[in-house]
Amino acid sequence: MDLFDAIAQRRTHRGDFRKDAISEEHLDQLIQSAQWAPSPFNTQPWEFLIIRENAGKSALAELTAKSVVDQFKDSTFLDDNSRWMRLTEAEWEERRDGVLLTDHVDLPPMFRKDPTKLKPLLKHAKHLSILGHLGAGKVPAKEISELVRSSPLLLLVLMDGTRRPPGEGGDRWMWLGMGAAVENLLLTATALEIGTQFVSAPLESQDDREKIQESFNIPDSHEIITLLRLGYLDTPSGKSVRLSSSTVVHHENYQPK
Ligand SMILES: Cc1cc2nc3c(=O)[nH]c(=O)nc-3n(C[C@H](O)[C@H](O)[C@H](O)COP(=O)(O)O)c2cc1C
Repeated sequence: MDLFDAIAQRRTHRGDFRKDAISEEHLDQLIQSAQWAPSPFNTQPWEFLIIRENAGKSALAELTAKSVVDQFKDSTFLDDNSRWMRLTEAEWEERRDGVLLTDHVDLPPMFRKDPTKLKPLLKHAKHLSILGHLGAGKVPAKEISELVRSSPLLLLVLMDGTRRPPGEGGDRWMWLGMGAAVENLLLTATALEIGTQFVSAPLESQDDREKIQESFNIPDSHEIITLLRLGYLDTPSGKSVRLSSSTVVHHENYQPK
């Protein structure tokens, strides 16, 4: 696949994958692509923890479920979250940023026909934490955790802090290198018709990260950068939107919009 096609076709896949395992050859291509990313001083701070067995998948699925339930109880999270939630495709296409709410949660029947009825609720999203305390997070938590459990492959991307480059900016440059490695992997996955999804919820809190660290014997010197779920695609991954380039590009001097 042409590089530009891979860039344009890469999409976050929030549905099921085919059940078959990712081939060793493809897995090798994914990891090698990540390894050929640039990094400061060629420090190559990345490591990859590949999880294909049920025990590891279940541990991560359970933590995902717990963390999603927690998020629904967290008024600050809900408030910040609502800023990026688009209720209809029309709103999403007009704003050209954020995510479509219905790509993330199955709405209760009363809102399914007309999600814009949720607008007043989202304006005061922090109050929805009351519903979270009453268990509203359990349904989406189950959905996403089942997706995690049933994925053919989970990947914990780790950053080895002992490979820090010199200088005050060392941490920043290391993180930037990690981002480049992950993007290489995502683009290669696209070219191989492998779908990918970041699963951030179980990495949101320090507590949960420590639990994962412990469950998978990850040393303290290493930081978990992200969790990805991967599998061959059998359904299309849906669409996305982007701001126009004129909104994000400045010439010669920064021009406030
Ligand atoms: C660091 C990072 C964390 C993300 N976490 C999640 C996540 O937890 N769940 C999810 O469905 N998508 C997650 N995404 C995917 C974004 O929502 C997605 O990239 C964005 O909406 C643009 O859509 P696209 O990837 O299909 O182009 C994450 C992306 C990044 C870069």
